[in-house]
Amino acid sequence: MGIITIQGSTPLRGETVIQGAKNSALPILAASLLSGDVCRIEGCPHLSDVDSAADILRYLGCTVVWEDDDLLVDSRTLTRCDIPQSLMRRMRSSVIFLGAILARCGWAELSYPGGCELGPRPIDLHLSALRALGADISDAGGTLRCRAAHLRGCQIVLATPSVGATENAMLAACGAEGDTVICNAAREPEIADLQEFLCAMGAQVRGAGGSVITVSPGRALHGCAHRVIPDRIVTATYLCAAAAAGGDITLRNTEHRQLAAVTTALRQAGCRVDCGADYIRLTRTEPLRAVPPVQTTPYPGFPTDCQAIFMAALLQSRGTTVFVENIFQSRYRHVPELIRMGADIRTEGRVAVVCGVERLHGAEVVATDLRGGAALVTAGLAAEGITTVQGVGHIHRGYEELPAHLRALGAHITEEN
Ligand code: EPZ
Repeated sequence: MGIITIQGSTPLRGETVIQGAKNSALPILAASLLSGDVCRIEGCPHLSDVDSAADILRYLGCTVVWEDDDLLVDSRTLTRCDIPQSLMRRMRSSVIFLGAILARCGWAELSYPGGCELGPRPIDLHLSALRALGADISDAGGTLRCRAAHLRGCQIVLATPSVGATENAMLAACGAEGDTVICNAAREPEIADLQEFLCAMGAQVRGAGGSVITVSPGRALHGCAHRVIPDRIVTATYLCAAAAAGGDITLRNTEHRQLAAVTTALRQAGCRVDCGADYIRLTRTEPLRAVPPVQTTPYPGFPTDCQAIFMAALLQSRGTTVFVENIFQSRYRHVPELIRMGADIRTEGRVAVVCGVERLHGAEVVATDLRGGAALVTAGLAAEGITTVQGVGHIHRGYEELPAHLRALGAHITEEN
């Protein structure tokens, strides 16, 4: 894995364009299997997780090719319905292919997706949703064997509004006879984007963005073209980078309403945030101040994916901020690395207490997960001296050319393999 080197404490200035959303592109790539045709996913981000999803599609027999920033998926020739461990392990969210393969083929075989750096990643809600639709699923020594000769529409009530389980249920329901109603569905914008893609393929899906999603069968599905929504977490990352380093940046190709919880917190910290139809501008000239407790919750609350990067922005703020990570069990692995840079953070279970310090200093740090890695880069931009970040392969999973975009905003940052 490569190394990122940052010469910190340089304010950011300028503008950059936000990539397409990773967490929208991945379920849409899985959903393209349902069309049995050619789908064009426009504005698809160039990420290693997208490469992993493309490799799964190719393994299943699809043709997948890039045309500039569009990814063309031809799923007319599906030759397999199993995903080997080597491919499942590369990306935790590959379980999202289960619903689509079941709906298309009537059976699927894939290895249990491993846990990951955020703690255990159970899929019980995925499996109970698919069983409710009529799938017979057995777990034989780490391999999930799924059979569904006929998927039948039903009511599914999710115990928690799981993003992945909502998406898997939507995809499987597209192959079911009769209506499916998904209650306590996740409300993330990426779910609404998936609904839009499915409808463009001819499916009848409605309600995404709310807690009840209905899928009605009927029409034959076909290929389509669909532009992926902007990545709200990448947008938040650049905003937090400018909040940390100071300066004045403008982000284009954004949808500010999708990250209101984050822009509100940034304003509370003392940033000026101006929003337009497709841009967000952040200005920070004065030292930041601590904010009221930050509780991560399902959308539209404060996103768990922004916890680490917002924490990094507040390390030199005046006062103390309490974070409560309510979504994942182990999402503070960036904390010891931030402490190596002079941060004052104490964690106890789901709680982290961040006391602002006068200054951070550069250090050699190691990324252990995607958003934690982005947090280390954010802190390095604010720190005095040189910070090196190892394990940048984690960052490549979700950020297109992060160092290049930050250099375009005036940061002194390089990456070498
Ligand atoms: C999606 O993961 C995102 N990934 C995550 O982004 C994001 O952090 C998460 O949603 C929450 O918003 C993609 O969309 C590819 P969940 P997902 O199912 O679907 C528990 C990033 O950095 N749970 O909503 O896996 C689970 O353990 C990534 O881009 C069960 O208990 O998240 C967690 O505590 C990280 N049983 C909570 O629900 C299940 O069957 C939320 O998980 C499924 C989930």
